Amino acid sequence: MTFKIVEKYEMVPTIHLMKINAPDVAKAAKPGQFIILRIDETGERIPLTIADYDAKDGYVTIIFQEMGKTTKQLASLTAADKIQDFVGPLGKPSEIENLGTVVLVGGGVGVAPIYPQAKAYHKKGNEVISVIGARSSNLLILEDEMRDVSDELYITTDDGTKGHHGFVTDVVKQLLESEKDIARVVAIGPPVMMRAVAGVTKPFDVETIVSLNPIMIDGTGMCGGCRVSVGGKTMFACVDGPEFDARFVDFDLLMSRLGLYRSEEAEAIDKYERGCGGNCKCR
Ligand code: NAD
Ligand code: FES
Repeated sequence: MTFKIVEKYEMVPTIHLMKINAPDVAKAAKPGQFIILRIDETGERIPLTIADYDAKDGYVTIIFQEMGKTTKQLASLTAADKIQDFVGPLGKPSEIENLGTVVLVGGGVGVAPIYPQAKAYHKKGNEVISVIGARSSNLLILEDEMRDVSDELYITTDDGTKGHHGFVTDVVKQLLESEKDIARVVAIGPPVMMRAVAGVTKPFDVETIVSLNPIMIDGTGMCGGCRVSVGGKTMFACVDGPEFDARFVDFDLLMSRLGLYRSEEAEAIDKYERGCGGNCKCR
């Protein structure tokens, strides 16, 4: 069985949106869950958080950034191409209750997985305050979509080309210091950002949820590749998460494990960009 790409475009430089025909996944998907895909029989498996899904039309939307060999290869595919494996939905869905006021924070490509959550919190009747950030305005994604499901939307850019000049954490801190009674903060983005958000919310004792993105292999709790430490306990992000209470996450361990295969990744990109399948002795 293969999975057809029904739509694909580059949203902003290096960040791509892809709609994949996967009716069973689309029917079962919930906010917070992810899929693992493999482009072809020899490809590596990569996890991607579900950005949207349409059970009626049977497709799942993924948004990814060109980073390693596999995401570069994925970016080269176009509508009508097929993907070998598309497994999901995996992981525990987000717990979306009516809490009052919820702040949703998305950084960079992390705005993609925060979007279905914002939509679901909004549908549940929460006051949704969203904070989305990017390095520069030309890298900001899903601004209109986030505005549609937010009562308030704040934008930040590291270089000041749009919205607040600075990090998402600056706005989160201002919101926490305001009169607002914030029940929960959900933050998704690079680990350094999630760790910073956890640091900002800590003195205010506000529940803070983050979605972790360790290296994953099988996605079913069998291989141990996605091991993370939460509250001193070993957890597997693929089955126990991917969402965890940020107060207890060991972000240093997460970041060091994410860097484990950096030299192999660089070598794979190098060979891919030179058009080498990886089996020759050209190095
Ligand atoms: P980026 O480096 O452009 O950062 C995005 C935003 O995060 C910045 O604009 C800033 O507001 C905030 N930020 C960054 N560093 C910060 C700091 N030190 N303190 C406070 N705020 C900070 O992000 P990117 O290039 O889109 O990130 C890509 C990374 O995100 C990849 O490593 C990818 O794997 C990861 N990611 C994680 C998830 C997830 O589920 N956790 C989802 C998508 C992407
Ligand atoms: Fe193998 Fe989670 S990816 S245990």
